[in-house]
Amino acid sequence: MTGDELRSAFLRFFEKKGHKILPSASLIPDDPQLLFTVAGMVPFKPIFWGKVEPVYTRVTTCQKCLRTNDIENVGRTPRHQTFFEMLGNFSFGDYFKKEAIIWAWEFVTEVLKLEKDRLWITVYEEDEESFKIWKDIVGVCEKKIIRMGKDTNFWGPAGPTGPCGPCSEIHYDTGLNEDCSDGECTPANSDKRFLEIWNLVFTEFYQDEKGALYPLPRKNIDTGAGLERVASVVQKTGSNFETDIFKPIISKIEDVLGVEYKKDEQKDISIRVIADHSRAVSFLIADGVFPSNEERGYVLRRILRRAVRHGVLLGAQKPFLHLINETVIEHMGNTYSELKNRKDLILEVTRAEEERFFKTISQGNEMLRDIISRSSKVIDGEDVFKLYDTYGFPPDIVVDVAKDYNLKVDLEGFEKLMKIQRERARSARNNVEYAKSQEIYDELAQKSKTVFVGYDTLECEAKVI
Ligand code: SER
Repeated sequence: MTGDELRSAFLRFFEKKGHKILPSASLIPDDPQLLFTVAGMVPFKPIFWGKVEPVYTRVTTCQKCLRTNDIENVGRTPRHQTFFEMLGNFSFGDYFKKEAIIWAWEFVTEVLKLEKDRLWITVYEEDEESFKIWKDIVGVCEKKIIRMGKDTNFWGPAGPTGPCGPCSEIHYDTGLNEDCSDGECTPANSDKRFLEIWNLVFTEFYQDEKGALYPLPRKNIDTGAGLERVASVVQKTGSNFETDIFKPIISKIEDVLGVEYKKDEQKDISIRVIADHSRAVSFLIADGVFPSNEERGYVLRRILRRAVRHGVLLGAQKPFLHLINETVIEHMGNTYSELKNRKDLILEVTRAEEERFFKTISQGNEMLRDIISRSSKVIDGEDVFKLYDTYGFPPDIVVDVAKDYNLKVDLEGFEKLMKIQRERARSARNNVEYAKSQEIYDELAQKSKTVFVGYDTLECEAKVI
């Protein structure tokens, strides 16, 4: 089953169970709490929250998502990605645990035909109801249903406050050998051998800024199954990057940069980084993000430059990423028409930013030479931070170059400064909240009524208060 077939099999399956198939929402959420759409449920947050009434109570989507919290791991593991597609089925006050669990099992065992004896289940330790459904109705043997704590089996909120709830996951046993400290390996002690392929969130609480939980007006279902991850299991590749979803992109990287995948582990890391980041960059630009020094634009710039940096490690001396993006557009443009519609923009913005970065690298090299000439043993963390923050000059290049001069780099000092900057950015984001802004609008609505006059006239005098 190809990635495309998997995506449509999922959507059709849930359509048959009464769900409305909706297209993916933008990567830029209509949500003041979030920079990006980080999960399939994000577009539905106001419905879960009870602020908006649903048009359909059963919905299914394949949602474009972006997560950068683990970006350092991308390329180094078979699973980590920034951009990914998340399959989901959602119930807004309609069905709850029983149907969600039964359908998940049906899809995984009857449509995907995954071997039942390789499937394990986790449930939230206080969620006896789910445990019983898995055991008594689905018939999973008790030994393979693991009760786990809040850190793994309670999901959300996406953002500082919002809808959340206990969750239950399906894990696939890849059969990999792993030494587990307490004897038998289970999803509780082995995250290499067991792969989480499906997450069912029973979204029934609202969490406030202090972490207190309140029941939501409706009980909801939010399912998340990462398309690339599930494809890797179905296609038995052992890695997302070896599925048909990534193959054409990796082949293009091999062609353009004259390298071969699976010949040298260090180079493979760079190839995977470029493969992942070319998708993130293409989709971000298609959704209207441009490289800049703040917020979303800054994230895009970092991702793009990280890809270029890895291209340089593979020997690139001139812009190349826009050529890889061309393949992303060709390969995914039938599913995501925004890629095709904005093809020129995606290629042009990428190429221009690549050119700037190649220039940065040569300017940064000059500054770095200066810094090196006044450093005796260690390059200061502050210098590394300044190079990075002002010029986007990557610390790993500093480390590489420093090695040639027998200098150490104060990466700890650099990290400290980065942490301060990240915290500053986070607290700036947390100040914005639906609930708070809503109060202001309510107050305003009380003070003065806005009358809609557009039925009779196209112009009128008004006072902005
Ligand atoms: N929101 C949950 C997740 O992202 C389930 O979709 O895992």
